[in-house]
Amino acid sequence: MKMKTIIALLAGVFVSAVVVAQDNNEDIAKRIMPVGKVHVAGAQAAAAADAGPRSGSDVYNASCVACHGAGVLGAPKKGDAAGWGPRLEAGFDTVWQNALNGKGAMPPRGTCGNCSDDDIKAAIEFMIEGL
Ligand code: HEC
Repeated sequence: MKMKTIIALLAGVFVSAVVVAQDNNEDIAKRIMPVGKVHVAGAQAAAAADAGPRSGSDVYNASCVACHGAGVLGAPKKGDAAGWGPRLEAGFDTVWQNALNGKGAMPPRGTCGNCSDDDIKAAIEFMIEGL
């Protein structure tokens, strides 16, 4: 083998070693990411099931804002009395149950599969705060 070939081979091995090392770093970064961020990445199943109680704003920002922030698909917007008023006339518990079970384009638990019933309640309270 010529020297050039050997150098090229060595360089190739070195480059793939660096690529592998970078992959590992990304994996580690994902594993140590806070639960909320893992959610955003869509890896909900990987998030711990017993994450403990979460604040309404945490749940909202992780799982609800995508639709309820701008009113995607007709979702009532956070803090929008016109959007929430008629729904709340049915009673808070009904609205809460609808969020747990899903309703129309609203997915069950707003896609937060590992949110407890109370986590969902806190997120709703956060969205209707001050109405
Ligand atoms: C994929 C978009 C989407 C996400 C994510 C989402 N929602 Fe919704 N949500 C909707 C839509 C659309 C509606 C209106 C459904 C209808 O009235 O047909 C809705 C309605 C609701 C309602 C009103 C139910 C009722 O009785 O009318 C509540 C409460 C609610 N969402 C809570 C949440 C919570 C809490 C989260 C986050 C944990 C969440 N949503 C995440 C789309 C979404």
